[in-house]
Amino acid sequence: MLELLQDPLKAIEAERSILANYYRKRDIVFTRGWHQYLWDARGDMYLDCNTGYGVAFLGHCNEKIVTAITEQARRLLTCAMTFYNDARAKFLSTFSKLLPPRFGKVVLQNSGTEAVEVALKAARKITRRRGFLAFTGSFHGRTLGALSVTGNTKYRRPFEPLLTDVKFGKFNVVNDLDKLVTEDLAAVIVEPIQGEGGVNPATPEFLRELRRLTQERGVLLIFDEVQCGFGRTGYTWCFQHYGVEPDIFTVGKPLAGGLPIGVTVFSKDIGDVFEPGEHGSTFGGNPLTMAAAAAACELFIEENIPERVREISGYLVRRLEETVTGSRYFLRLKGLGLMIGIELRQSAEPFVDKLLREHKVVALSAGGTTLRLLPPYMITRKDVDEWLIPALERVLEVRK
Ligand SMILES: Cc1ncc(COP(=O)(O)O)c(C=O)c1O
Repeated sequence: MLELLQDPLKAIEAERSILANYYRKRDIVFTRGWHQYLWDARGDMYLDCNTGYGVAFLGHCNEKIVTAITEQARRLLTCAMTFYNDARAKFLSTFSKLLPPRFGKVVLQNSGTEAVEVALKAARKITRRRGFLAFTGSFHGRTLGALSVTGNTKYRRPFEPLLTDVKFGKFNVVNDLDKLVTEDLAAVIVEPIQGEGGVNPATPEFLRELRRLTQERGVLLIFDEVQCGFGRTGYTWCFQHYGVEPDIFTVGKPLAGGLPIGVTVFSKDIGDVFEPGEHGSTFGGNPLTMAAAAAACELFIEENIPERVREISGYLVRRLEETVTGSRYFLRLKGLGLMIGIELRQSAEPFVDKLLREHKVVALSAGGTTLRLLPPYMITRKDVDEWLIPALERVLEVRK
């Protein structure tokens, strides 16, 4: 480990020699993180607006979460779901404080994809119907089920045939919905704000009409909040911004402060979906993740994270409007809260690369042409004014 730390090239070689080639890698070795910052093996500091695809929204190595993980690691790491566990109980009771009254039961998983799988399985079981409606530009995960409802054909094509009873509608096209929401559907699945697809918010009319039609036709409505949920948009759940509630929603990414988690949340009227044995997960609900997630939920409440997000994102968006809108590459600003997309007239990847190499800002792209920023909630006005905005002005060649 020390040897790898001293020589970043060795770490790169070690990964390259054995890790299958399923990610386009950037040759930086990150070894340490604290709140909104990362450090590489050479000791260079970075501003993190990527946060591991949106996971470190509560910051890297947040003290409260690290303490909870450390204490739990000394007591108990694993506990079969057939037994009760104090860390799990603590998470469930803290998490339930964040749920609107309509919601009751949850299923515990290890990733966003798995939470989506559970939602799809449950919808089939509850309705005894087979079909799903999903939308263009959507992303719901990479397992065969979640992939079947993911809109991007590039991700789906090599693995077809997938689930056969899936239709895709055009995202945000309200007029098509009456024909698409048919009575053979088990569920409609939609992200209130598409993340991977380009930081595209649903319009209120679109979600409202989906709610009306699904209710009328006995179809379940699933909101995938894996990326947009848990405070990131300035609301605890993104659907609260719209005033439209689903029957089922999924949570993941930041919920355990950096440890793997996925949760499927069901409305009370659905009740217990599965009989014992019909569904399970060896690691889902493990005490270590539960202790981290309980601490994350406590922190969420103590710090009033949605309000913090609204405050700093209001400032950040104002600064973006004053600056990057003057770039010849700029097309539009999209998103809500700290889920921000800067849509460009061309591929965003070269700009993500330049931000990283020349300005030590870690960002990501979405939907090809959108530069995506998913910073932690504690990003400061100083980070914005002295680091992020000057970096964006340089890479986007904003004329002053
Ligand atoms: C909306 C949405 N759903 C599901 C997933 C899959 O989550 P995971 O990668 O944790 O399996 C993602 C991941 O980016 C996502 O953005």
